[in-house]
Amino acid sequence: MVEDLRLDSLEGVGPVTTRKLSDAGVHNVMDLIVRGPVEIAEITGMEKDTAEKIVNKARQHLVDGGLIAKHFTSASEIYKHRQSIGKITTGTNCLDTLFDGGLETQALTEVYGEFGCGKTQFAHTMSVMVQKTKEEGGLEGSVLYIDTENTFRPERIVSIAQAHEMDPEKVLDNIIVARAYNSAHQTLILEEAGPVIEENNVKLIVADSAVGLFRSEYLGRGTLSNRQQKLNHFVHLLSRIAETYNCAAIATNQVMASPDVFFGDPTRPIGGNVVAHTSTYRIYFKKSGKKRIARMVDSPHHPEEEVIFALGEAGVIDPEEAEKKTKKTTKKTTTTKKAKESKVEPEVETPEVEATPETPEVETPAEPVEAEPVDTTVEAEIDDAEPVEE
Ligand SMILES: Nc1ncnc2c1ncn2[C@@H]1O[C@H](COP(=O)(O)OP(=O)(O)OP(=O)(O)O)[C@@H](O)[C@H]1O
Ligand SMILES: [Mg+2]
Repeated sequence: MVEDLRLDSLEGVGPVTTRKLSDAGVHNVMDLIVRGPVEIAEITGMEKDTAEKIVNKARQHLVDGGLIAKHFTSASEIYKHRQSIGKITTGTNCLDTLFDGGLETQALTEVYGEFGCGKTQFAHTMSVMVQKTKEEGGLEGSVLYIDTENTFRPERIVSIAQAHEMDPEKVLDNIIVARAYNSAHQTLILEEAGPVIEENNVKLIVADSAVGLFRSEYLGRGTLSNRQQKLNHFVHLLSRIAETYNCAAIATNQVMASPDVFFGDPTRPIGGNVVAHTSTYRIYFKKSGKKRIARMVDSPHHPEEEVIFALGEAGVIDPEEAEKKTKKTTKKTTTTKKAKESKVEPEVETPEVEATPETPEVETPAEPVEAEPVDTTVEAEIDDAEPVEE
């Protein structure tokens, strides 16, 4: 391992250059690689040639230390390097199967789907799971959570940790939350993240949502290329950080309906191709009644398959777990509400009963048109069911 990642440990990088670099937010040798020569020249004002030399030295330094791969490597060396890839369990059998063991480090995983499909719940769950011991499928690492929509909820972390019999306080302590207020700020957080990642042994970086702020700030066709360029920069940065620091990275992305699609699924991720092209893995979440479907859309080595999962107090859960809970809730509802409410509110009870026949429908892959109306009922159902559970 390279002990010394300080900028001045590179030959020819003196105090002046070091200061110039750190003023521009480049704090260590890793950051030089992450940002690359073109950007280093841009942000420090140094000549492109000089920037290239420094970045090349940084690369060599890390290659010598065995931290990154050489330009030309044998397949067996790449294979060996890939052995250092860590996997984080999702805490469910179904999603672990889809991910072939768990969420990988050195990779960017895009999770996309419509509102309420569970992207944020998944990000919360992974923020807890990464902290588990290696024996339990975690990486004993901490989390950098970039929250762009103000949807990070420590309460959810507490419930998920408790459901997994972990100390909630410790779990909360290991999640560094960065609230991003605009797209430039969101990018800046990532640009400055190097030392935070290193000092805190961050093993998971979440960008939830990766795209939302870019989308809301760059409206209209005229600004589209500018937006895509900026988004491209952000997503590339995230992916390079994941690779360089051996972290897992999750970028969430909402989908919107494209009216021009007549066949197949009429939804498209709003990040368009930018996020898609940069991500190593792409997972599509879709509501299907009470359940959720997760599909591995694009992967260099996973088959394109689908699994069914559910959402609960413990975050993302196996569908069987949800069924157990539903049965309990149904029983409670019928016993407690029987006398008063069975006449008054028969609608609340009826969908609960329908929950079982829904399952076969879920097994047939994705028919968005049918799923939509079911969803509305389910949202209402969950909302109605929750207070009863308490
Ligand atoms: N404590 C809980 N127990 C059970 N289900 C929950 C709980 N909290 C949230 N949910 C479920 O999670 C859903 C919201 O999921 P989530 O916030 O992850 O969606 P999202 O994909 O991030 O949506 P958006 O695109 O709007 O950000 C709710 O509709 C509800 O079904
Ligand atoms: Mg969300």
